[in-house]
Amino acid sequence: MKIVTTFPELRKARRTLTGPVGFVPTMGYLHAGHISLVQAARTECASVAASIFVNPTQFGPNEDLDKYPCDLPRDLALLEAAGVDLVWTPPPEVMYPPGFQTWVEVERLTRRLEGEVRPGHFRGVTTIVAKLFNVVNPDKAYFGQKDAQQAVVVRRMAKDLDFPIEIVVCPTLREADGLAMSSRNIYLNPEERQAATVLFRALSAAKSVYDSGERAAEKLRALVRATVAAEPLARLQYVSCADYDTLEELETVRGKALLSMAVYMGKTRLIDNFAIG
Ligand code: PAJ
Repeated sequence: MKIVTTFPELRKARRTLTGPVGFVPTMGYLHAGHISLVQAARTECASVAASIFVNPTQFGPNEDLDKYPCDLPRDLALLEAAGVDLVWTPPPEVMYPPGFQTWVEVERLTRRLEGEVRPGHFRGVTTIVAKLFNVVNPDKAYFGQKDAQQAVVVRRMAKDLDFPIEIVVCPTLREADGLAMSSRNIYLNPEERQAATVLFRALSAAKSVYDSGERAAEKLRALVRATVAAEPLARLQYVSCADYDTLEELETVRGKALLSMAVYMGKTRLIDNFAIG
């Protein structure tokens, strides 16, 4: 496995990869969810590249950039064991040199859900993903359903900017009790960790009434609200039942919908979602 930090090194290493090339962008502190993306890429592509970069521009001023967890030696060992050929770990000044002022912005899709409560977040995501795509030049790029809106937004960007890259979305990996794996779960104390199953419980409750025929989106949202309200350690930030393609809130669920939510467990913000329909 080759590990590179600069553009010249990356370009040189990229030329040695035989295609098709699969790419897994990450911010590190890897868990089984990230590794499942690598495994999907390994199965479908001749070569696999990954990146580890905690992208400062997608964090808001009061978010956790400064304390975002990191363990590079462990991450590299995990990527190597999963069969990655090339890892890019650029320092911030390589991605954002002095004078940087060019941004990639997807408009309507980023005004909703995560974009509404984290202004500027998706501008940071699409800018860094476009930059990573430009240099890594993969055939396929792998994203997790865990960040459903991110996957929808990145797919839109790739289409709108004519990136010849197939965006592959892989299922959310969960702990045994249903909590979606996340680098941020490390922030939870034992009581919060236990209470954090409330996201999965709330989504499961809503999904099961959907499965028994309920189609009123507000009923599904109300069930999520009630489930979270019953968990004293959790504070709901939003719940949404939206059209999967436009991310607009629904009155009635007809086609594919995205049931999604954000919850504060103490200071830690967790998100989760189910696709329904
Ligand atoms: P990060 O949070 O490190 O996640 C990297 C990828 O792993 C994302 O596509 C995310 O959706 C996926 N992922 C996270 N948890 C998962 C889980 N439990 N199951 C399956 N996949 C999971 O998302 C980012 O980094 C950044 O925004 C990035 C795209 C790298 C741009 O900076």
